[in-house]
Formats: sequence, C-alpha cells, structure tokens
Amino acid sequence: MITTVDLGDYTTDIYFSELKKENNYENRLLISDEHIYRANKSFARYWDALPENHRLLLPAGESAKNSASLFRILDAAFDAELDRGGEMTAVGGGVLTDMTGLAASLFKRGCAAVFYPTTLLAMVDAAVGGKTGIDYRGMKNMIGTFYPAREVRIDLSFLETLPENEYRSGLGEVIKTAMLGDASLFRLLREESAAFCRRDPEKLRDAVARCVCIKARFVRDDFREHGIRAFLNWGHTFGHAFEAAAGLGTFTHGEAVIWGIDKGLKAAELLGKGNRSYADDFRELTRRYGFRTEAPVSDFSLFLKALAGDKKKNGGALEFVLQSGPCETFRAPLSDEILRKIIPTV
Ligand code: GLY
Repeated sequence: MITTVDLGDYTTDIYFSELKKENNYENRLLISDEHIYRANKSFARYWDALPENHRLLLPAGESAKNSASLFRILDAAFDAELDRGGEMTAVGGGVLTDMTGLAASLFKRGCAAVFYPTTLLAMVDAAVGGKTGIDYRGMKNMIGTFYPAREVRIDLSFLETLPENEYRSGLGEVIKTAMLGDASLFRLLREESAAFCRRDPEKLRDAVARCVCIKARFVRDDFREHGIRAFLNWGHTFGHAFEAAAGLGTFTHGEAVIWGIDKGLKAAELLGKGNRSYADDFRELTRRYGFRTEAPVSDFSLFLKALAGDKKKNGGALEFVLQSGPCETFRAPLSDEILRKIIPTV
C-alpha cells in the first residue's frame, strides 16, 4: 500500500552509484528493456557494469507483455539466487513495471518490487497503485495481481529523452488525473500549456507529484477496485474501444483516453448532468496540446463490440465513468441511442 509520496532527489545516478559502491546488488535483480538501454547512455553505462546474473534486458513494447517475458524474469530471479527478502527493480515504462510487479508477487509467494518509471504515463499511473499484469489471449492485462511496489522512485530526467508521442500520451493521463482530483492543476495545465509542451522541469515535477498524490488517495481508499478506484478509468472505457476500433497502435493510450473523456462529457450533457463551461475548458485545453477529439470511428459495430467486451463490464451492465464538473465523478449506464449521438462516425 502507498504510504508516502515524496519526490525527493532519487535519481537513477544515485541509485546505481550506491549499488556499485556497496556491491549492493546481491539479492537484487534489475530489469529493464532494450529501448531504454539504447536511448539512455548514462543508464547503459551503469547497466553494463552490473554483474550479468543480476540484470535482465527484455524486448520493449506491448507485444513483449506476455508469459514468456514473465517467466524470463522469474528464471532470472532464480539464477540470481534471490530469496523472499530479495528485490526486483524495474527501470522502464508501464509494460515493464506491470510485468515486474506480477513476477515479484509470484516469486516464492512474494518478494519486493521497486520501480523506476521512465515514462510520464508510468510515473503518474501505471507504476503507482499496485496493479500488475501481462496480456493474454490478445487481451490486455488478463493475468495479474494487486501487489504494490515497495517504492516508486521517480527520476524526472528520463522525460528528457522520451519521444514526443509518448510524452503527449502521458500528458493525457495527467489531464485525466487533474480532472478527477485537482481543479487547480487542471487550470494550470491550460494556462501553462506552453511550459508543459516544452517539458519545463519545475512544472513537471509539480504536476507529477500532484498526480501521484491524487492517485494514491483513490488507491488508499479502494485498493482492489470495488468502488471509487474505478473513477481512475475516466475516459478509458470509450478510449479502449476507440483504440480497438482504430487498430491498436494507431492512437497512443493517452490520446485515446482524451478522446474518451470528450465523449464522456458529451454523454453527461445528454443525461442532463453536464457542465458546459467545464467541457469548453477541457476542449480548449486539448486543442492547446494537439489532441484529436474529433477523430471519427470508422467501424461503429466493431466499436460497440469492443465496448461490450470491456473487462470493466459488471454483472452484464456496462457502467461508464462520467463527470458533471471538476472532481465531480459518477457512474451511469448509457443507452445505444446516447452512444449513437456522441460517437462520431465516418
Ligand atoms: N490505471 C488505473 C488504476 O490503476 O486503477
């Protein structure tokens, strides 16, 4: 369970220097991916200096989020002779932290997981809150556990080398989180969009810390998602179906979430619970960051099929997370008639 949020000065440089100084890698396995290794030269230098049986480099990307990678982590932990007091340290994005968390929860019935999230999305969402998983049978996160990392250490310098589309994807989750829990951050994201677009370190530090605090509140109150944790899926039900209908990879996750939030605001309005000026502020904000909320769905029946298959379907009735204003979130079913009105088609 998350107990403290402190952005401190935990840089990867400090961590690796300490590891080296004290030969401190005994009982630790470090896991990263090929993309991070190639993109970060100083990280690669530290990595190469680690003993081979205490490090594991996996292929990058969603396609590697599978049982083969999971068992490579577990095998590497056995080869490194970790015991139950051991630690798996993941340096990577959400795919890697999800898989490492799952492996840590399974290894000898549970060893510690420590995460260094390297993407904005993982810093504010995936690495925080204890959801672990791998994809299975073509479906995302179908095998997983709730198992929080012992520590999440956020080194913002990783954001300097993050590709633009991944950075914007993370901004999508930052915007979502602000809408759920911090009206002043939502305002700041609008007013300071230029600073966020150029990745101003101070602005990012503040926004990331605030997002982690907001998420920590939801997770603390509802760790296993029996109730309000589902609010963190704001924009996701529409967004996932949009991603599926557009073809996975056409839109980034954050872009799809912003698209979904736009539809959620429209649905709330049709239910008589909307807030026009809030929706206008949201749309102005998304334009400033270049999100495409008008993008149409090319295959509406595929979109509906993806909605029906959404794993958040609860007892046969699909409830959508919606908002009637900043930090005013609720859940409601939506009729096919409303869906037809809010989803743009070609
Ligand atoms: N990403 C949503 C959650 O952690 O609940």
